[in-house]
Amino acid sequence: MKVFDIAPVKFADGKMMILDQTQLPGEEIYIEARTKEDVWEAIYHLKVRGAPAIGVAAGYGLYISVRGYEGGDMAGFRKLVGETSEYLNSSRPTAVNLSWALGRMERVLDEAIKAGEKSTHLTVEEAKKLMLAEAEKIRMEDEESCKAMGEYGLSLLKPGMGILTHCNAGTIATAKYGTCLAPIYLGQERGYNFRVFADETRPLLQGARLTSWELYKSGIDVTLICDNMASIVMKNGWIDAVVVGCDRMAANGDGANKIGTSGVAILAKEYGIPFYMFVPTSTIDLNTRTGDDIPIELRKGEEIYRMWYEKNMAPEGVKTYNPSFDVTDHKYITAVITEKGVVRPPYDVNLRKLKDE
Ligand code: MRU
Repeated sequence: MKVFDIAPVKFADGKMMILDQTQLPGEEIYIEARTKEDVWEAIYHLKVRGAPAIGVAAGYGLYISVRGYEGGDMAGFRKLVGETSEYLNSSRPTAVNLSWALGRMERVLDEAIKAGEKSTHLTVEEAKKLMLAEAEKIRMEDEESCKAMGEYGLSLLKPGMGILTHCNAGTIATAKYGTCLAPIYLGQERGYNFRVFADETRPLLQGARLTSWELYKSGIDVTLICDNMASIVMKNGWIDAVVVGCDRMAANGDGANKIGTSGVAILAKEYGIPFYMFVPTSTIDLNTRTGDDIPIELRKGEEIYRMWYEKNMAPEGVKTYNPSFDVTDHKYITAVITEKGVVRPPYDVNLRKLKDE
């Protein structure tokens, strides 16, 4: 698949390197994460962002945070892993891939400790190796999963279509290829000539800074619009499908994604345009019953009135409300695209079936 080849997280020669996405599109800079605080800060400040990429960062991040443990006792090591995992999990609340990846790292360790009780005891050094291997596995599986979502997604699209996307669910939001941008890359390779419209995605501009950068550099026909222009491009007849990512999908198919997504979904319904949500199974959380149970991250108001301007664009002291995500009700989602296939309603039944497969 032809894709602008840049990874959000790299691990080589024992170093965890994070592409600082806050510097894009101006500069492509990697920073090294050496401590748990570095990893926490990188996730909190969106240096690494996008649900699957956060999961990948959590895997490597947990490993690099505990690898310096020098005590030989497994109980002490296990305790450190648990505490560090809890700390990293507090960096952002909505994307379930964070707790999913940390839980997976802890589980693999527990299983090996348990197996060791019956035969040769697991040493702390072996446990560290195991954790690095699991982090690698999380990254590689995500890459495979995105490839598969690309194929399933493309099966729903036709050459020449106009496609609207919101936020960034591209290669830098995942291990590689992206979730909802994967079919666009695949389509480009196969001569589909899509016309992509990217919502700028206020307030942190993931659509402008990241999606338009990624697609433009890949040679894809992309047009940047402000969020409040989604309706007019739909009315003009320029949009044939909407594709978006997801940070957490509840058991009933309600999906949390970047703030503004639910409005786009409601508009799409009004204009009769299919709305596709791309959700790897690592982002489906059957323990969360409905969208009302998904924790929504609230961020500082200065992101709205100050961050991208030379001076304040609102009166000093004005009240702000800055939720980072909203929940799209399942009734607006035409289909959910996963790495295992395309899921259609009723989502409460079909998502569970898919996870059980
Ligand atoms: O705040 P962000 O930039 O982490 O939000 C990202 C999104 O909402 C993405 O659409 C979602 O994580 C899916 S990424 C494949």
